[in-house]
Amino acid sequence: MQTQIHDFSMAYDEEGQGLPVLFIHGYPLNRQMWQFQTSGLNAVARILAPDLRGFGDSQPTEGNYSMELLADDCAAFLDALQINKPVVVAGLSMGGYVTMAFYRKYAARMAGMILTATRPGPDSVEGKAGRDQAAARVQRGGVQEAVHPMLTKLLSPVTYQERPELVAQIKKIMEHNTVQGILGALMGMKERPDSTPLLTKIDLPVLILHGADDQIIPSKEAESMHQAIRGSQLEILPRAGHLLNMEQPDLFNQALSRFLATL
Ligand code: MLT
Repeated sequence: MQTQIHDFSMAYDEEGQGLPVLFIHGYPLNRQMWQFQTSGLNAVARILAPDLRGFGDSQPTEGNYSMELLADDCAAFLDALQINKPVVVAGLSMGGYVTMAFYRKYAARMAGMILTATRPGPDSVEGKAGRDQAAARVQRGGVQEAVHPMLTKLLSPVTYQERPELVAQIKKIMEHNTVQGILGALMGMKERPDSTPLLTKIDLPVLILHGADDQIIPSKEAESMHQAIRGSQLEILPRAGHLLNMEQPDLFNQALSRFLATL
C-alpha cells in the first residue's frame, strides 16, 4: 500500500487488529525485514511497517534524512492512517535511533517502546568519517556498495553457516533501496544527537532486544540501556546477530507477544 506523506509517497504493510505496533526498519534495509513479524504477530496486534523515505518502495527525496525528519514522517504516517491513540514503536538499529527521536517529539503518541539492536550514543569521530567514506563509495558505485560491507557483518556466524537462503534473501532486501535513500540516511545517522540523556527520562514500558552475536552493535549497549531505562525489560537472543528478528523470528515474536500482553 502507498500513502502520501509530506513530499513523498510512502509504502507500507498493514496487517491485524488491536494495539498498533509501528515497526521502523534499520539501514540499509526496508519494511521487508519485518515480514516474519507481519505474518507472525498479526493475531496479537495491528502491525504497521512503513518503508522510510528512499527505502524499499517509498520515493526518495534529496538531502539529509535526520532522525527527526524520519520520526516526523512516521508521525505523519500515523496521521494518514487516522491513528490518534498511542501506539507501540519498535525500531531496529537506525530504526531505534528514529524511535528515540520519535519519543523526543511525540512521547504522548507512544504506548510503549521496543529498542532492538540499537544504541543511544552518537557516531564517534571515526564513525562519522566512516559514514563519509561509505557515502563516497555509494555515490561512485551505487547501492551494491552499501550492501556488501553490511552483508558480511549483519548476521550471526551461525546464520552464515547454516542459512544461506536467508542470507540471500536479506541481500535482495538491501538491494531494493535507492542511492538517495542510502545517502540521506548515512548523513542523518552521522549527525544524530546523543540520546543517552533521554534514557533516564523515558516514562513508558520498554522492551530491549538484542542478538548475542551482534557484530555491529555489541550487546553491552543493550545492557547499559536496560540499566538506564527505569523498569525496562531486556532479552538477549542466542544464535542471532544484528538482524535478530529475521534470524530468530519465533523467539523474537514470543518476546514481543509477552511484552504486548502487559500493555
Ligand atoms: C542499522 O542496522 O540500521 C545500522 O547498522 C545502524 C548504523 O549504521 O549505525
